[in-house]
Amino acid sequence: MGHLAACTALCNRAHATLPVRKLEWAARLAIYAVNLGVPMYFLGCWIAYPDSRGNIFRFPPEMTVSSVYFVACWAFLGITTLRWFFDRLTTGQIPQSESNRAETVDLRPLLGPQPVSSMKSRLLVWVPGNRPFDVAINEKQISMTGLQAAFDGLTITHLSDFHLSGDIARGFFERIVERANDFGSDITVITGDLVDSTRCFTWIPEIFGQLRAPHGVFYVFGNHEERLSRENYAELHRRLGQQGLVYLGGRWSQVPLPGGPILLAGNSRPWCLPAPDMRDAPPGSDAGGPPRILLSHSPDQLPWARQHHFDLMLAGHTHGGQVCFPLIGAVICPSRFGTKYASGVFYKAPTLMHVSRGISGLTPLRINCRPEITKLVLRAPRLDPKNASPRERTVLPRQAGDNARDIALLRAGRAHRNSGSRAGPPDGGLPTALDW
Ligand SMILES: [Fe+2]
Repeated sequence: MGHLAACTALCNRAHATLPVRKLEWAARLAIYAVNLGVPMYFLGCWIAYPDSRGNIFRFPPEMTVSSVYFVACWAFLGITTLRWFFDRLTTGQIPQSESNRAETVDLRPLLGPQPVSSMKSRLLVWVPGNRPFDVAINEKQISMTGLQAAFDGLTITHLSDFHLSGDIARGFFERIVERANDFGSDITVITGDLVDSTRCFTWIPEIFGQLRAPHGVFYVFGNHEERLSRENYAELHRRLGQQGLVYLGGRWSQVPLPGGPILLAGNSRPWCLPAPDMRDAPPGSDAGGPPRILLSHSPDQLPWARQHHFDLMLAGHTHGGQVCFPLIGAVICPSRFGTKYASGVFYKAPTLMHVSRGISGLTPLRINCRPEITKLVLRAPRLDPKNASPRERTVLPRQAGDNARDIALLRAGRAHRNSGSRAGPPDGGLPTALDW
């Protein structure tokens, strides 16, 4: 168990932190070699040295190595288990925001007799419990501490991880876009992994080109676009721009809305460099500036978002783990935080983060982890002065009138956020999709 836990943890971190695909594959091969090699070694010893079978710590020829490895595995398992419990207690997940409104739609009957084309996927869709075409249509009302009243009710459709590869039928994604447009949100954002294969470039007008939002459709790329050649990467940008989508990777921009401008930025590190330069951005919302919203492919950029005073961060990449076990949930999760931010709504002051389970993946395997599209409804902070804890203040409805505790909390946050912030020009300019 300790050996498996260590290999899984290494795999998750390698997937999250290695920016170059060749390195990722090299790391993956090394992890697989260790994963299989160590049990094979002990099995070989067990067969070759029958006299030592009663005491696995004394396998020759290197009894010390065997013992150290076993102790290390047990220690890792113990530490991982304790950390898992600690994370569940301290992550700041906001379950109330998960259950505002949810509907599940089974799109498989609409996809014809063959919803997937490869043999691997045809076999996978028959795995008991696998529901890759059961899409959760979520509406989550989330209250943001730094949101001014003028933006109360602002709606954002959050889509992530389309993974167009040609394996899953185009109709699946067309139905997804129809449902996303039904939300009628003010803006729509896509947080990476749009297209995996050049075969699907011709699908772009029928899928991404059909997304509608009165104040714009914005996107960043993910690690799967990094796998495209330089020419195809540029071509993908060009085609998305032709459809009116606005690229935000490595930049920030103010988007005018009826309640005032909001600041949108994109950061898909470590795959897409650089991170946006926020030094010339207007001050944060607590200092009278626009609300700051970050699109990031990975939830691993949460520390960066907090450091730069973002009010809201939207991420994907994890696919929710794709397979969630009873009680323990996700196990495989490509994040340097492990499964801590696999999916859901999290709050670490001053940033509220929504991690989407995404829409698809290269492997159509979704067990107890449905694909999702989400409409986020942003709400100004509302506190119950008698009952609210610091965490609850992000979700509770406001009672009549503010209170001293509310104001003190906001002032404390403002003092923290003002330290080190730099005021800049009021507008960084809206980029065009081809300007990257
Ligand atoms: Fe993905």
